[in-house]
Amino acid sequence: MISKAVWEERSTRDQPGPSVRVAQTLIHLQSRSKESEALIDSYGRIARKLRISVTDACNFRCSFCMPKHPIWLPKKEILSFEEITRLATIFASLGVDTIRVSGGEPLVRNGVEELVEMLRGIHGVSAVSMTTNGFFLEEKARALKEAGLNVVTVSLHTLKKEKFENITGSSAYERVLRGITAAREVGLRLKINCVVIRGFNDDEVVDFASLACKTGITVRFIEYMPFDGMKLWNPEKVFSGREIIKRISESYELEPVSREPGSTSTLFGFRNDQGKIGLITSITAPFCGDCDRVRLKADGNLVPCLFSSNEYYLRPLLRRGSSDEQIADFIKRCFWNKDAGVERKLGKLLSIKHVRPMHSIGG
Ligand code: 5AD
Ligand code: SF4
Repeated sequence: MISKAVWEERSTRDQPGPSVRVAQTLIHLQSRSKESEALIDSYGRIARKLRISVTDACNFRCSFCMPKHPIWLPKKEILSFEEITRLATIFASLGVDTIRVSGGEPLVRNGVEELVEMLRGIHGVSAVSMTTNGFFLEEKARALKEAGLNVVTVSLHTLKKEKFENITGSSAYERVLRGITAAREVGLRLKINCVVIRGFNDDEVVDFASLACKTGITVRFIEYMPFDGMKLWNPEKVFSGREIIKRISESYELEPVSREPGSTSTLFGFRNDQGKIGLITSITAPFCGDCDRVRLKADGNLVPCLFSSNEYYLRPLLRRGSSDEQIADFIKRCFWNKDAGVERKLGKLLSIKHVRPMHSIGG
């Protein structure tokens, strides 16, 4: 049974923004016949991508993500690999076809490559990727590749050793670079995520663009979101995608690459070079209208929208003997309540509030 709070929340929440409504109509027309088995929300958006946080713990302390003194989830509340795989299989039966494994830092969880293999084996899952801080990548790259990981995204927010230590509280800059090299050597597809914060690392966006065209790696710039552990976020610190492009265009000729529906990033290629850059404009130009993501926290909480505090508890169902059908039914009913998204708040940056620290959800 879905809880009373779920239904009350549904009846009192906001109406969708304009692009959500367009998506609603389009997707509704496309998918009528599939409605009963798909994971669909009340605006007509369908979930295709599942992001699974496998731990809230991390060996780094990036200020824009972690609180100063984090309190980790108790071990008994964290889903086992078997529980995660069971849920992922249910999500796949509801139409999810790609999975991203994240954290905290996923590679601090022992044997996570086994989980990758289990997820890759699920019928209907065509790709599994991982977001990591790169610390353990040098030693884990091969095992991850062999487990079937398709893409690895390394979070790297500066190319300066000293600043790296400042941001992460770790002296592992070279080690992370070696991790990146190892991932490339074993043939993993690689991306770099760089959170851009005004006055902190916005002076490095051109250096990151140079890295992209020298190496062929896709560098994705992420606008700073209000999910920092220390609640230091404010709208002035958001260095927008528009500003990033303006700055890089002073040094490089960029060419837009068409955006795939549901993709979080707007991609650009270089006219005369390899490599791509991507913009994840979650604050100034979010893509809520065709959002196709759903998230699972390490404790088994379902989070339909990153910018909403609504979470639905799946762990009790897993541990109290509910059937796959009952769990699927609950997931469908919860997902139906997915918020319209942050897009509605566009232009009112001050109204965007801190929802949860990023380490607890993994982006
Ligand atoms: N805003 C934007 N991105 C963030 N990340 C962590 N904290 C924030 C934040 N406050 C990034 C991580 C990782 C991805 C999952 O999100 O560095 O690359
Ligand atoms: Fe760890 Fe990534 Fe958060 Fe940094 S941003 S503290 S590396 S989870």
